[in-house]
Amino acid sequence: MGLTVSIPTMASAQHHAIIGELAAGFRGWGAIVECGVYLGATTLTVSEAIGTTAAEFHCYDNFAPNDYEKTLALESQVILPDDSRDWIRQNVISQMPDAHVVHLHQGRLRKAEWCGKPIELFILDGGKTDPTFSHVVETFSRCWKAGTIVCLLDAYFSAADQYLCQRRWLEANFPNHSRVESGAFFVA
Ligand SMILES: C[S@@+](CC[C@H](N)C(=O)[O-])C[C@H]1O[C@@H](n2cnc3c(N)ncnc32)[C@H](O)[C@@H]1O
Repeated sequence: MGLTVSIPTMASAQHHAIIGELAAGFRGWGAIVECGVYLGATTLTVSEAIGTTAAEFHCYDNFAPNDYEKTLALESQVILPDDSRDWIRQNVISQMPDAHVVHLHQGRLRKAEWCGKPIELFILDGGKTDPTFSHVVETFSRCWKAGTIVCLLDAYFSAADQYLCQRRWLEANFPNHSRVESGAFFVA
């Protein structure tokens, strides 16, 4: 967790710990997809957890910090431009091993597309409500395989009505998934 301290993050320490634990199970047979990365702090947590294992990261976000996101960054003395991608390249991706190739996919998650490669680790921390959520999971779940680790970050267990779509979708589409305490599940 050490390297992530200086990267502003919306994820709690517990979220980082959960993501780190899940990523430690990464073996390198598929891509890593993260939807909603803000400034890439959780991406860096994944990178640290998998060490030098070769990995292809695909990070989806609008990379257009709003006033709240800019103010949050200011608390860490970070002044964000309107497009955060260069900042992420300079401050986050530069800290990652060369074996970790990162693709930044900019745009609205409700229009996200996927190239069809198998996905080994899928983390969702943006686009948590419908109709965006349905588009995201339908787009990416086609490439989940046996053993794919799926982390619908904390929202799956939230009692908030707007997140119920996640539980309903999961139960309808992956009734035999195995779930772990952290809220992640494994595709059977
Ligand atoms: C909770 S934050 C992610 C926190 C991040 N994991 C971290 O380490 O700080 C959610 C991110 O998803 C992005 N986001 C949310 N909804 C989106 C959408 N519909 N399209 C594109 N990006 C979206 C937000 O701009 C924000 O950067």
